[in-house]
Amino acid sequence: MLVSEPTEITEQSVATAVDGALFAISEVANAADLKAVRSAHTGESSPLARLNGMLRDVPNDQKAALGKLVGQARGRVNAAFAAREAEVLVAEENARLESESIDVTAVGSRWRAGARHPLSLLMEQMSDTFIGMGWEIAEGPELENEWFNFDAMNFDEDHPARAMQDTFFIDPVDSHLVLRTHTSPVQIRSLLDRPLPVYVVAPGRVFRTDELDATHTPVFHQIEGLAIDKGLTMAHLRGTLEHLARAMFGEDAQIRLRPNYFPFTEPSAEMDVWQPHAKGGARWVEWGGCGMVNTNILRAAGIDPDVYQGFAFGMGIERTLQFRNDMNDMRDMVEGDVRFSQQFGMVV
Ligand code: PHE
Repeated sequence: MLVSEPTEITEQSVATAVDGALFAISEVANAADLKAVRSAHTGESSPLARLNGMLRDVPNDQKAALGKLVGQARGRVNAAFAAREAEVLVAEENARLESESIDVTAVGSRWRAGARHPLSLLMEQMSDTFIGMGWEIAEGPELENEWFNFDAMNFDEDHPARAMQDTFFIDPVDSHLVLRTHTSPVQIRSLLDRPLPVYVVAPGRVFRTDELDATHTPVFHQIEGLAIDKGLTMAHLRGTLEHLARAMFGEDAQIRLRPNYFPFTEPSAEMDVWQPHAKGGARWVEWGGCGMVNTNILRAAGIDPDVYQGFAFGMGIERTLQFRNDMNDMRDMVEGDVRFSQQFGMVV
């Protein structure tokens, strides 16, 4: 810092010292500057301090005037320091507050909530429709005895359906275990476990040796329904399926039954649903299989078919989601990308 060295007290030398100090003060930007400038312009070896020291040596008749000159000069400089110091403190405080400020309106990094899988939601929604009618949920194992999966369901030993269902057989073959190919074995399990009458739905995972493609997956889900009571007829089956269809597709949905064959129902039918609000326009879609429970099944469970009758049905959950929500590719349902699930929110 360049500071002029006064040699005697004159109006000129005092003014130069004051101007030098005031200019330096005007340039001060922060507390550190302030400290250095204060020491240079008011400290022991500063021009003003030297001028003050020289007062000792001036003749007595000039002491008062020169003393006043130097004193006023020091007063001005000190006042300028005080004013600048106040400004610098306020500026520094403001800068600190600004640097510590928080934008309460800023978008935070949010924890991403996951989502239930739409297949789970759909299964739950279908199950709830039956719970609402007083039905119960039944379960069976995914690793199933061949006997429950086929024999008890009235499949012949070499019935083509056994091969048609593309079964995963479990090693060794004489364990007679399979990955269940449908939820229908839960029918016979429920009849063996439960007192009559029986009204159950069995949602669950099933397996077939299909390659994964847009319309097939080797692991998929079905929901099975079984009602056994006195005097049940095809009309009850129709009414039940119609109720389900309306719960799933709207009050104006309808169903139709087309003759079909299943070993465990007689008569058997393929069920189509009239989907009034489909994206591409109202349409009939094949939805599942159903029929009156074959008397052989009732007998296998020790039930007298002359006293009790019943109906059963089963449909695929993936397929339902596919045509209900216009999902073109079944692979989206199995890939586990949370963005797929999130587009359904919590409700299908
Ligand atoms: N289990 C049959 C299937 O997987 C569907 C079905 C269930 C048919 C109940 C009739 C009665 O194709």
